[in-house]
Amino acid sequence: MQPPIPHSRPLIDDKDVLAVASVVRSGHLAQGRKTLELEEKLRLLVGAKRAVAVSSGTAAIYVALRAMGVSPGSEVALPTYVCSAPLHALTLAGATPLLCDVDPETYNIDPDDLRARLTPKTACIIVPHLFGLPARLDEISALGVPVLEDCAMSLGSLYRGRPTGSFGLAAIFSFYATKMAAAGEGGAVVSKDGGILARAADIREYDNKISLAPRFNFKTTDVASALASSQLDKLKRFVLKRRMIAERYVAAWDGLAGLPELAPEEALPNFYRFVLDISQPVERVMEFLDSFGVTAARPVFRNLHQYGLGDGGKFAGADRAFSRALSVPIYPALREEEIARVESAVQRALTA
Ligand SMILES: Cc1ncc(COP(=O)(O)O)c(C=O)c1O
Repeated sequence: MQPPIPHSRPLIDDKDVLAVASVVRSGHLAQGRKTLELEEKLRLLVGAKRAVAVSSGTAAIYVALRAMGVSPGSEVALPTYVCSAPLHALTLAGATPLLCDVDPETYNIDPDDLRARLTPKTACIIVPHLFGLPARLDEISALGVPVLEDCAMSLGSLYRGRPTGSFGLAAIFSFYATKMAAAGEGGAVVSKDGGILARAADIREYDNKISLAPRFNFKTTDVASALASSQLDKLKRFVLKRRMIAERYVAAWDGLAGLPELAPEEALPNFYRFVLDISQPVERVMEFLDSFGVTAARPVFRNLHQYGLGDGGKFAGADRAFSRALSVPIYPALREEEIARVESAVQRALTA
């Protein structure tokens, strides 16, 4: 029996290993030259004024919200169908969540639903580009509320020909182990606004400050930054390989499930996740795939309103997404034999 195919696996090559080894050998482990190099690469990629690297994507959301002026008492909008990281970050910043629904076809914020729920207290909208598909940024931006793009999943995706992360007042990225550029942990804030960037860089650190107002340590290390930076060099290739696998899956499963569009309007997704919309019970299909050595997952653990948030409001799109979404392995480290195994296991699961 072949080893099971994990849901995610980074592609680490000799260049990555050498990049990390040279930092470790240098003896300079803390945030330094390699972090500056990573920040510069990300800045150029997104067309930002500067990038501020931090310890995780969650830390990046917290730092960005604070730097954007979100303070205790403000309200921050976000979709209910998303991992809990943005919720924790805004809560830590003292804000309260305003949940909105998603479009179950794209899994992204439904701008009409968001518009109907906004209040005069909404200080910011966190816009995740879920599974790497850009959200409808033009309609969301037109609402006139500052946008923080959550690009944890969308590094390398384009919207209207421009990288995600270049539209909002600020944006964040994650270099978590499963992400497009994997460094174990890590994140960054980008913006075109010098004030936001200066505040983000200040909030990141606790030392050498003139007051003892509460602070924390959000810094990253040059070890993680060297890996993230080396991974970023391969981003274009990573996206191409993911797209190639997505094309294979769409050809293999056409008619068996709802599938992501390969060429959605106005967007070029990075295919960070390949999520099927299935009518069979998700847990049962996961178990079936597991018996063929294919690890599938619910791509979002739970809707945030399922925890009792959202004042009992209705979130029909998110409920549908949660009950039908199944994420299957798609990443550049997948070998040919593994891609074929995923193809045939999913075919069997959906025709069983
Ligand atoms: C949409 C989204 N935002 C934020 C995060 C948090 O990133 P991190 O795990 O680097 O803290 C994640 C998680 O991985 C995510 O999927």
